[in-house]
Amino acid sequence: MQNEPTPLNIRHFLRLDDFSKEEILYVLDRAKYIKQKFKNFEPHMPMHDRTLAMIFEKASTRTRVSFEAGFYQMGGYVINLTSGDSQLGRSEPIEDTARVITRMVDLVMIRTFGQDRLEAFAKHSRVPVINGLTNEFHPCQILADILTFVENRGSIENKIVTWIGDENNMSYTWIQAAELLNFKVHFCAPENYQLKPERIAGVSPDHLKIFKDPYEACAGADLVTTDVWTSMGYEAENQERHKAFANFCVNQDMMNRAKPDALFMHCLPAHRGEEVTAEVIDGPQSVVWSEAENRMHVQKALMEFLLFGKQ
Ligand code: CP
Ligand code: NVA
Repeated sequence: MQNEPTPLNIRHFLRLDDFSKEEILYVLDRAKYIKQKFKNFEPHMPMHDRTLAMIFEKASTRTRVSFEAGFYQMGGYVINLTSGDSQLGRSEPIEDTARVITRMVDLVMIRTFGQDRLEAFAKHSRVPVINGLTNEFHPCQILADILTFVENRGSIENKIVTWIGDENNMSYTWIQAAELLNFKVHFCAPENYQLKPERIAGVSPDHLKIFKDPYEACAGADLVTTDVWTSMGYEAENQERHKAFANFCVNQDMMNRAKPDALFMHCLPAHRGEEVTAEVIDGPQSVVWSEAENRMHVQKALMEFLLFGKQ
């Protein structure tokens, strides 16, 4: 048959709120179990004979290595495509790419520009699709960040997460997480980099409070987090952003306003002396390396859940 129907029961992970609270907590719990097995050198290979395809239309270090190493460790095979080395770079429609490759592989991870491109792929996919970062969201990173928080400090419920940085894929995903898991984001950005009203319509003040002053935003925080001043795809604004963000570098004085046991996170890559001082990112409150490692553990749990459901 030329056009076989797409299987109806597939789940995608295009945004954090594609999952319920209960499903997120399951994936986090399962990640802890899978991580422990990895640390004990015990094999965990549910992906035997399965294939993951990854499409990168933007650069990556952590996402590529964490998905690739994780999938190999689970017994599967991984294929990497970029715009430069596939027909995507020569204008093959994303829908056709989806129709073709998802007849051959079991799972797809995509890092791209607009969320609409990811959604167009998913609409024509016969297998689960994972968001490996879009302009709008970075849900795998937030899963890893919350796992890292939980490992270090217990439940994130009712906690305060301070975001110093622009409205971007990370900050919007943090806000979704706050709504799903019931904590509060303190958002603080320069004037022209505020959250878009249409993207936060309906978010309760229990889950989001906006600050002008980064020191005030950090007061009482359980976690302070930031990101690059210029996200991928916005490089043309780099100079302008450097001027606007000059007073928004996370420093030790800001950390001292947070709770004494507050953690510092950054999704990485980081620019010391820009969005964070070396003192903070390399200091005792920083958990950025565990945060990066946890990408692999949590994504293993995510991929297992998408393909096989709860174990
Ligand atoms: N944090 C993150 O997604 O890193 P990469 O861009 O290196 O994948
Ligand atoms: N906000 C950053 C995250 C990088 C992992 C970007 O989109 O470039």
